[in-house]
Formats: sequence, C-alpha cells, structure tokens
Amino acid sequence: MHPILSKAKENMATNRTFTMIKPDATGNGHIGSILADIIAGGFTIKAMKYTHLTAETAGAFYAVHKERPFYNDLVSFMSSGPIVAAILEKDNAVADFRTLIGATNPAEAAEGTIRAKYAKSIDANAVHGSDSDDNAAIEGSFFFSALEVH
Ligand code: CMP
Repeated sequence: MHPILSKAKENMATNRTFTMIKPDATGNGHIGSILADIIAGGFTIKAMKYTHLTAETAGAFYAVHKERPFYNDLVSFMSSGPIVAAILEKDNAVADFRTLIGATNPAEAAEGTIRAKYAKSIDANAVHGSDSDDNAAIEGSFFFSALEVH
C-alpha cells in the first residue's frame, strides 16, 4: 500500500468513536445537555439517529457481553426506551471520549464527566462509548450505512 494511503487508513482508525445516549438519559431530558458536552469536548457528529432498540437488537449489539452476569439486565434496560446513536470524530476519539464520559460506574466517574453529571447507576449510566477502534467501527456500522455518515 502507498504510504499516503496507509497513513490515511491509520487516521481513520483512530479518529472515530461510537456512542449511544441511553434510555435513562433520553427519558430524563438530557439529550441536549449531553450533545452540548460532546461538542464542547471537541467532537464532531458524523452520523446520528434517534431510535428504539428491541430486545433482539440490543442483545445483538451487546453480544460480546453474552456470558456476563449483567447481560439480561443490560439488554432489558437498553430496550426499555429510545436511544440516540452517533458516530463521533476527533483525534484520539476512543480514549478522549472515554475520558469525557467517565468511569462505567457513575459512583466512580470523575467530577464533571457526563456520567458523573447525568448517570444514576452502572446500568442506567447515561451513555455508551466504544472501548477500541475496532469496536468503534463495528458498532458504528451496526447502526449506520456508509450513506448515513457525513
Ligand atoms: P456500556 O459502556 O454500554 O457497555 C456495557 C454496559 O454494561 C456498561 O456500559 C454498563 O451499563 C453495563 N454493566 C452493568 N454491569 C456491569 C459491570 N459489572 N461491568 C461492566 N458493565 C456493566
């Protein structure tokens, strides 16, 4: 591969992440505040939709956690109300977004992070953020076709 192309590919792999605003936060009127925090954090929205997962689609999205004890509760919570799904862009997107949202358990999330501000529990933790570049790509393409990314 030409060095310029391989550099472009490398950039693609590290500048995007995927997020969902979860049913607790959509139900509590926090969509606007969370999006404002995301934009203030330097992220650009590349794709976005407001939708409602079924138990089947939530189960498929979180299939990686199928053997975990919290899987059934996670699937039932994630299909309990609407969510906002989005692909975000920024240098170092995956790591920077995880810093912006804070620890998975809001009780451990640093002050000022999205989960510290808006989350109630480890299940109802306001937002999802991809944990790797590979998962960001997989999760983004779960929700969006190439024609829906701008
Ligand atoms: P999320 O980043 O969406 O990825 C998996 C979700 O499982 C996580 O956020 C939490 O909301 C939920 N969850 C519930 N219990 C746990 C746990 N013990 N460890 C990790 N995630 C958990």
